[in-house]
Amino acid sequence: MTTSSELLDLSPVMPVVVLDDAEAAPDVARALLAGGIRTIELTLRTPAALEAIEKVASQVPDIVVGAGTVTTPEQAAQAADAGAAFLVTPGTTDALLDAVAATRLPFLPGAATVSEAMRLAERGLDTLKFFPAEASGGPAALKAFAGPLPHLKFCPTGGVSVANAPEYLGLSNVGCVGGSWLTPKDAVAARDFATIERLAKESAALAS
Ligand code: 3PG
Repeated sequence: MTTSSELLDLSPVMPVVVLDDAEAAPDVARALLAGGIRTIELTLRTPAALEAIEKVASQVPDIVVGAGTVTTPEQAAQAADAGAAFLVTPGTTDALLDAVAATRLPFLPGAATVSEAMRLAERGLDTLKFFPAEASGGPAALKAFAGPLPHLKFCPTGGVSVANAPEYLGLSNVGCVGGSWLTPKDAVAARDFATIERLAKESAALAS
């Protein structure tokens, strides 16, 4: 099993994917892989998400598939049952943290402030999602986190793009960035996997 910190080392960008149709999931995952991206975060924002995770886990074993936008204890258990290899939460509550811990899966709990990050560190969690990254102060905020909390590593997500990703990836406390730009809604709807592969290639080439 990959640890939370190893997850951040797999690719410089974690694609955050919203799918309306589970059937498209394996081809989206294959396009990302072909572009050199080794992880996929399928968000639990659509009714198709759990089935999409199941399909990728069983049909595309070379990509590490996780569930994102996990906001309730029930979703944590459902995502684990569907075959998710990791979980990502936008923020945390005690009940959610307990449920995620019960799955024993690696996970990236969301934090936007120093106090939230410290609370998670108290529970032994040292690999976090910084969300929403741009709205919470962007690279300047994250750089400031590294002063008092140098042992914490982050995956900033929310408003990150291929243009501003290098600024985050240059920080000592950033392992990878997350973003939805690799799988634009219209490209997914049109089954335009060549575009997804091209965006993945461009993202995989970003240095972390
Ligand atoms: C997430 O849940 O991580 C974000 O919605 C992704 O943000 P983005 O669409 O700005 O990349």
